[in-house]
Amino acid sequence: MIRERAYPVEPWHVRETRLDMDVLAQSESVFALSNGHVGLRGNLDEGEPHGLPGTYLNSFYELRPLPYAEAGYGFPESGQTIVNVTNGKLIRLMVDDEPLDVRYGEVLAHERILDLRAGTLHRSLHWRSPAGREVRMNSTRLVSFRQRSVAAIHYEVEVADGKPLRLIVQSELVANETLPPQSRDPRVAAVLESPLEAEEELTTANGGLLIHRTKVSGLRVAAAMDHEVESPARIMSESEGYEDWVRTTIACVLEPGQKLRVVKYLTYGWSSRRSLPALRDQVGAALAAAKLDGWDGLAREQREYLDEFWDAADVEVDGDPEVQQAVRFGLFHVLQAGARAERRPISAKGLTGPGYDGHAFWDTEMFVLPVLTYTHPAAVRDALYWRYSTLAQAHERARTLNLEGAAFPWRTIEGPESSGYWPAGTAAFHVAAGIADALRRYVLVSGDRQLEQEIGLTLLVETARLWRSLGHHDREGHYHIDGVTGPDEYTAVKNDNIYTNLMAQRNLLAAADVVMRYREQAFHLGVTDEEAASWRDAAAAMHIPYDTELDVHQQVEGFTRLQEWDFAQTPPDKYPLLLHYPYFDLYRKQVVKQADLVLAMHWRGDAFTSEEKLRNFLYYERRTVRDSSLSACTQAVLAAEVGYPELAHSYLREAALMDLHDLNENTRDGVHMASLAGAWLALVGGFGGLRDHDGVPSFSPRLSPRLGGLSFSLQWCGMRLRVDVRPHETTYALHHAEPDAVLELRHYGKLVRVAWGEPVTVPIPPPRRDLPAAEQAPGRAPLLRLPGSSS
Ligand code: BGC
Repeated sequence: MIRERAYPVEPWHVRETRLDMDVLAQSESVFALSNGHVGLRGNLDEGEPHGLPGTYLNSFYELRPLPYAEAGYGFPESGQTIVNVTNGKLIRLMVDDEPLDVRYGEVLAHERILDLRAGTLHRSLHWRSPAGREVRMNSTRLVSFRQRSVAAIHYEVEVADGKPLRLIVQSELVANETLPPQSRDPRVAAVLESPLEAEEELTTANGGLLIHRTKVSGLRVAAAMDHEVESPARIMSESEGYEDWVRTTIACVLEPGQKLRVVKYLTYGWSSRRSLPALRDQVGAALAAAKLDGWDGLAREQREYLDEFWDAADVEVDGDPEVQQAVRFGLFHVLQAGARAERRPISAKGLTGPGYDGHAFWDTEMFVLPVLTYTHPAAVRDALYWRYSTLAQAHERARTLNLEGAAFPWRTIEGPESSGYWPAGTAAFHVAAGIADALRRYVLVSGDRQLEQEIGLTLLVETARLWRSLGHHDREGHYHIDGVTGPDEYTAVKNDNIYTNLMAQRNLLAAADVVMRYREQAFHLGVTDEEAASWRDAAAAMHIPYDTELDVHQQVEGFTRLQEWDFAQTPPDKYPLLLHYPYFDLYRKQVVKQADLVLAMHWRGDAFTSEEKLRNFLYYERRTVRDSSLSACTQAVLAAEVGYPELAHSYLREAALMDLHDLNENTRDGVHMASLAGAWLALVGGFGGLRDHDGVPSFSPRLSPRLGGLSFSLQWCGMRLRVDVRPHETTYALHHAEPDAVLELRHYGKLVRVAWGEPVTVPIPPPRRDLPAAEQAPGRAPLLRLPGSSS
């Protein structure tokens, strides 16, 4: 775990003030740079020591067999695994006759700064070699948001003692790096040995390129580099290459105080179809474009891009500087994952590490896209197009499963189901409803009817068909969806998961509505009036399991009569339970891995009364262990809604600081994108109370008593709404809108009209005071409680 305060609390930086070898792998994820197309882990420039070297390209994967001890019908035979591609971050330094390596000699100072406004990772090192020679090295790295295949490193080394010094910089491209052995944790990635086959290497005076191909998936990747060198002294430079590496060497002798400056331009291209010459040209062109801008130009563009993003997306938190820093860090990573993904997936770890094999899950649609919808909708459009591009495979999967419509995969990179574990994989059909909901929200918030017509109609129709074939009406006409797994993976293959049913209900109604808007196109999809009516019937008759004796909803039919989990006999080192107990046991008891019914109360809050929400929250709070990082943020949202703002604040901290504190001890495999997005959801959905159930933005703001204020902006149909929440009142103001623009919103259920240039301030009603204590499962209180608080 990263010790508390490993990174000093600063509003716009994540700064590491000394190099801690014990958390090197974690810091590589925290300091990863990406634009959604290319991802570079925060490995040290000189490559060693490392926790986990990593360079990733979105959707560049290898296929590996999924062997089963006992296979069954419909089990996928191979899975996709993200590949660590050619490493272009490497810049080694020879100081006189000794290699710079922080494990030797003396590190006099070492600092790394992730600058959330500049979009760069800066490193400065003051090092004394074992022979007593001193250098100062400064490097700044960026992965360009504007030029998607470009990364660049500004590298500067200075003689820091009193004598002339010989310096040799070796800048490299290296393919097929040896990776550390895999742990037994099923959540980490499969390690692929030398996945790349060499196709071409080429050197130029100041750089070179490598082209490789994966052995089974047949994807081709090209990586190219070039350098600009500035030195006050004469330099010798040469490049050489072999199958798996290309190296440019720059040598010089500098006087004390003199600096050698190298700018490394790095570009990547990959394709399943393009020829080798085409790819070679593509990376060459990208290099030319990068050099045309130069380091200063790239850095300026990067800042401009981020200025625009922060202008629209920043959240200001008054009263908890740690959360302030963490929510910006989270938004930065969410942007990095989605900015230039461009019709390719946003995976659970973004491009920050190989965890979960680089797969995208429902995390994308239910956690990441809601945030981007309100802050950077262009990325959502792309992400929805990505899902649409996998439709043929989802159709095929449905056919294999003898179902209608489209069965989207539980985990995938390019579309096929890559989950070998059926109960917590394919059976989690709710992913379809998540896609439908993300689509609904995006169209509502952006007003993008073109997307609705182009892909929305088909996605809604095909997902509605799935629900219609997966469920059935019983003898009394009630509609059931049996034998599925909801978000809580400790309760699998059960009947009528409430989250699935409620989300499917919304999906069915949205499909029935959209076919009315695009009748002709719907006709071409074969939709008849009868079919649309059957969707409405199923939605109207959807069974919502309820325990009338306990007066709470049931997460699945029969949940509340299952045996209770023996929390008293479960010591803290047995969590996460999935690593210590058989699924068989987890499945038959009342123990909840992650918010499920509570998640339904967030996204389908319109289906519950306030009293029901309170009772349900208290019941499930005592049984939820949060063995997934996708839980704390949702518990924060609901804790805030039902009246536990301090508890909400603690959960917010857990979600927001998941990676900065490495709370789940697996940040080494990549950051937890859903939890980072969850920090925004907890603030805006929790303390801001944002919901979008009925077509207008609605708010029920109420701050944690520890906060003095919360401000955020939301995009709504081309306008920008600024919300300032204070302890007793909230101000709504329209920005970036036409002078005659008016936005209707709800504040605690009442309609408020906000006109451009006329902010509206409304009071926040007093809180409820008669609430019982909210209890967690023994030993499962929020990981980061508020100082001096019991919740
Ligand atoms: C969670 C899933 C999630 C996956 C990837 C699992 O631990 O239970 O809900 O989709 O991680 O983040």
